[in-house]
Amino acid sequence: MIINPADRTKTVQEYYFSTKLAQIERMRRDGADVINLGIGSPDQPPSENTIARLSSEAMKPSVHGYQSYTGAPVLRKAFSDWYRKYFRVELNPDNEILPLLGSKEGIMHISMAFINAGDEVLIPDPGYPTYSSVTNLVGGIIRTYDLTEINGWMPDLEALEKTDLSKVKIMWVNYPNMPTGAHASIELFEKLVAFAQKHKVLLCNDNPYSFILSDEYRSILEIDGAREVALELNSLSKSHNMAGWRVGMVAGKSEYIKEILKVKSNMDSGMFLPMQLAAVEALNNPESWYTTVNQVYVKRRKIVEDIMQLLNCKIDKSQTGLFVWGGLPQNVESCESYVEEILNKAHVFLTPGFIFGKNGDRYIRISLCATEERLLEAKARLEKMKG
Ligand SMILES: Cc1ncc(COP(=O)(O)O)c(C=O)c1O
Repeated sequence: MIINPADRTKTVQEYYFSTKLAQIERMRRDGADVINLGIGSPDQPPSENTIARLSSEAMKPSVHGYQSYTGAPVLRKAFSDWYRKYFRVELNPDNEILPLLGSKEGIMHISMAFINAGDEVLIPDPGYPTYSSVTNLVGGIIRTYDLTEINGWMPDLEALEKTDLSKVKIMWVNYPNMPTGAHASIELFEKLVAFAQKHKVLLCNDNPYSFILSDEYRSILEIDGAREVALELNSLSKSHNMAGWRVGMVAGKSEYIKEILKVKSNMDSGMFLPMQLAAVEALNNPESWYTTVNQVYVKRRKIVEDIMQLLNCKIDKSQTGLFVWGGLPQNVESCESYVEEILNKAHVFLTPGFIFGKNGDRYIRISLCATEERLLEAKARLEKMKG
């Protein structure tokens, strides 16, 4: 290529799943029936009224124009009602909620709004890879903090306090946690808020998994004083089976939201109105809707636990969320080569833990986003592979 890309492109690589999905596609083209248990894209549908509202609204001639940068007022109100009902948090729909095109873009917007080149960012290891890549893209300095099985996948704030925190601007936390499925206690959230206040750090809780296999909904914004230092991302992707729709939000103090809006309003031009109105329907689903969705995941998780057992992987049965995270047995050399071997021999794709950081090296993650039939088929193939 005769035009050089910007230096920042050298700080990131193509997303792991993007390259892996291309490999799976090639294998499928060559006739292999690959079972993808990697990515967390819910395969169950959104509620019927959500789809019905999208269809009926899309038929109207007046709904196809640009929309407000701050989202439709009814959607902000629905998010606010949802937060009151499930998270016991009062959010002013006028200025404390900003709808997003999924929560992933919020990681970029928040980083662009608050990180100067050279600012440090605390990132969980293991953790969602986007926190690191976005930090690199905006010129921030990554400072990973360890989450380990021994400490229940919780940050060791005392250890962090023994280090120089003067340049830290943002701390990413993600509870319920992906990939480990760990849940934070209110006490941990209280400690995190106190830590953020003491060190003047913007605490960002990425919270897309609250409703999956859990009925204990928790928000960082529940904590007294959190509003001064914390933001929360949330999303309909996992909780409402709407990953492809790209509907999420960021919530927090209006002054912070205003800064994020400065960035975002220069990047996109709002969300298709029928989708926003359909998202309102989704947010108003009765609580029993989540229960019905979770009943399916409960059955799938049982099969995935059996698969983990078959692979001699150690699991914590109290984990929640859309995945099962399992520790590899001693005799397996590396998660990357193990996953590759399983993909090539059994045509089953599992996620190697190393993509989430060095502390994920001895783990694999299996998604619950496949039917019981496909999971049983994957189990049968793995049984055959193991001989
Ligand atoms: C921890 C975490 N945060 C954010 C996201 C992005 O979700 P969304 O679809 O809302 O952009 C994911 C998706 O896999 C995730 O696992």
